[in-house]
Amino acid sequence: MKTLVTAIQKGGQGKTFATCHLALDFKERGLRVAVADLDVQGNASYTLSNYKSGIKASQLFRASPDTLMSYFSPSTDRTLCLIEGDPGLADIEGLMNVGEAASQLKINLKALSEFFDVLLIDTPPSLGVIMSSAVLVSDFMLSPLEMEAYSLQGFQKMVTVINNLRKLNPSLKFLGMVPNKVDGRKPRHVQNLSTLRNSYPDLMVPFAIGLRDSIAQALGEKMAVWEVKKTAARIASHEVRALAQYVIEKMEIEQ
Ligand SMILES: Nc1ncnc2c1ncn2[C@@H]1O[C@H](COP(=O)(O)OP(=O)(O)OP(=O)(O)O)[C@@H](O)[C@H]1O
Ligand SMILES: [Mg+2]
Repeated sequence: MKTLVTAIQKGGQGKTFATCHLALDFKERGLRVAVADLDVQGNASYTLSNYKSGIKASQLFRASPDTLMSYFSPSTDRTLCLIEGDPGLADIEGLMNVGEAASQLKINLKALSEFFDVLLIDTPPSLGVIMSSAVLVSDFMLSPLEMEAYSLQGFQKMVTVINNLRKLNPSLKFLGMVPNKVDGRKPRHVQNLSTLRNSYPDLMVPFAIGLRDSIAQALGEKMAVWEVKKTAARIASHEVRALAQYVIEKMEIEQ
């Protein structure tokens, strides 16, 4: 099982959008996908509520591996399994330190690894115990980013964070910043995107996701954007499929 965490310490950038769409795309490819919603807001849990496994996300930090494994039998449908965000995550954030949280998480992910090909972790927008421990146990990381001034500020902080966490998890591969909600009609967006590409050529993915109403609609209607029946959803679908293809190739997931 390969693990990808979607993280950036700024809200509303598209972490949950990316996690849910990668999950739905990977499922269609026939992969066995688990999604851990580590955000107490539970947005990914809302969009993926048709795929509940019964496991609560806080259990990843405090249940035994045997308890988690008991949710799966050889006959359980494991094409897409949601590990749901729950209020217990607030206790993890408040009561555990990063070292404890990461080691419990690591043990439990190992137990789940025989059941899944890929685990996608959605994180909350603050650099707390939960986000840090998720980054520490993951193989890959992806960070979506809006092209607004406050987001670029968040990006700079994230570069420092990535560098620090990489020292503790040297095997972490950063797949890149994904420019999201880009509105090509706004000179500010175009300018910020070009500045970022010039300043951080190695950190930016070579494509962008537009500001697409159909994406917000899809998340609210618990579906992938390619299931939205409107002409305008087509461009969004191409962009999101390109993101999924990029991630699959970078993670070297066999299909
Ligand atoms: N490319 C896009 N075009 C239009 N709307 C988008 C796009 N990406 C995300 N959104 C919308 O923007 C909002 C924020 O996205 P999302 O919830 O994925 O961000 P997040 O980083 O997970 O936020 P948080 O940190 O609060 O969890 C949502 O309402 C979502 O539907
Ligand atoms: Mg979110």
